[in-house]
Formats: sequence, C-alpha cells, structure tokens
Amino acid sequence: MSESKKSSKSEENKHLYFGDRRSFLSKLAWGSFFTYFGMFVFGSIRGLYPRVLFEPRKDFIAGYPYEFAPMQVDESFMSSQRVWIIRTNEGFIALSGICTHLGCTPRWLKNENKFKCPCHGSGFNGFMSDQIEIAVNFEGPAPRPLERLEISFTADGRLKINKGKKFLAEKGEWGMPGAFLPFRG
Ligand code: FES
Repeated sequence: MSESKKSSKSEENKHLYFGDRRSFLSKLAWGSFFTYFGMFVFGSIRGLYPRVLFEPRKDFIAGYPYEFAPMQVDESFMSSQRVWIIRTNEGFIALSGICTHLGCTPRWLKNENKFKCPCHGSGFNGFMSDQIEIAVNFEGPAPRPLERLEISFTADGRLKINKGKKFLAEKGEWGMPGAFLPFRG
C-alpha cells in the first residue's frame, strides 16, 4: 500500500473515531438533559399534590350489644384486632391486648378472673365490683394498667371500637366518655 493511501485511510479512521465519539458525547449530553428535565417536571407536578400515608383502618364494628353476655370477656377480636370486649352488668369496655410492660399479649384466665401476661408474669384485674378497677395491674413488672380503647355505638346501635383513641388510667382518662360505654339494651 502506498504512503498516500495509508495516510488517507488513517484520516478516514480518525474522522470516524472522532465523529462517533462526538456523536456519543452529544447523545450523552442530551440524555442527561432530558433525564434532569424529566425529574424536574415530575418533582414539580408531585409537589402540587399532598402526600398521603395510607394506614390501616383503626376502627372496627364488634356487633350488637345483645351478642355479648353479661360479665364475660369476649375474645372474638383478639386474633384479628388484639382487643377484648368486656361486658359488665352496666356496660362495655374495649381493652387493648398489649401488655404495658414490654408489649406481649396477656391471656384472659377466666377461672382466676385475671389477665395474665406469659412473658414476665404481670397480672391485671378481671371483673371487680367497680368497673374502674378492671384491668388494673396488681402483680409483676407491668408499671401501669392495660389501655382502654374508645368504644361507642354506631347509628344502628352496634358497638364500634376505635383503636386510634386510647384511654390511660394513670392519666385519669378512664372516667372520660368512650372509656366505658353504658349498656342501653
Ligand atoms: S411483657 Fe408482659 S410482663 Fe413483661
């Protein structure tokens, strides 16, 4: 191959190399631009809408009052809601099934008339002459009574429990409406 041919071939390769390289860099630049632009537009549109956190519903319907026998602790909702429905002769209590020591699930021991936590042995009152004493801690390391949850009637007379509203005995909240629901037939 003559020198002139070699030289023109190398010029051609050089052109191809730099030409492709330029084109590649140009594409890269445009690609980056559109990516940033897209992100900017997406961020701006997203900012127009409030961020909503979808949490599981905190209330549930437990049934009609007559479905609960007097002086019984109903455990129907323990596995699904971790809540006991207690019916005294006067009304209802929705009791949280979370131990106030370290969060284990106590058990209702009907024959011993108490709630007993299997983890470290805390005990909480069962039925007492005054409803205000039910679920108060009396043995073991639990520092305070179990928590009560808001209980009310729906428009059609069923029991509704709101797990989003708690009543704490140590704050004097058990006397508030919703911590105890008087029976109405
Ligand atoms: S978690 Fe219930 S006694 Fe410790």
